[in-house]
Amino acid sequence: MSKMHVKMTVNGKPVEGLAEPRTLLIHFLREELNLTGPHIGCDTSHCGACTVDMDGKSVKACTVFVGQAEGAEVTTIEGIAHPDGTLHALQEAFRQHHGLQCGFCTPGMITRAWRLLQENPSPTEEEIRYGISGNLCRCTGYSRVVQAILAAAEHMRG
Ligand code: FES
Ligand code: FES
Repeated sequence: MSKMHVKMTVNGKPVEGLAEPRTLLIHFLREELNLTGPHIGCDTSHCGACTVDMDGKSVKACTVFVGQAEGAEVTTIEGIAHPDGTLHALQEAFRQHHGLQCGFCTPGMITRAWRLLQENPSPTEEEIRYGISGNLCRCTGYSRVVQAILAAAEHMRG
């Protein structure tokens, strides 16, 4: 199959590459750009492990063809920490509040929470649970994930 030339901005840097039109964004990120933070848990849009941010919205990168991301601003978990390498408040809160166990869901969960807190800097517990309802976690039972997001929100509000 012939390949298309795609360009986008990923984690603040312009990137380009060749990909078959049927290529999913998650595969382009992981296999062409070597950004393996976003995971593939199901490839059927259920688990949210592949969640990235695209043009200001959380998307499941297994549901986006790479051509749909042409010209987009994409942020993955690799772009969430501060440029000097220090952890973002969400990452720090997940660490402190045990918001992860195996960690498989964590990149998608944090990337989703990152957008959620920009949409709503003061979410209630219920709003957080609704906001992350597209991200499945098989380990934590969600309580500590919610606690971590609440703590990060408080920290970020100062
Ligand atoms: S891998 Fe995309 S939702 Fe599961
Ligand atoms: S920490 Fe294991 S799936 Fe969420």
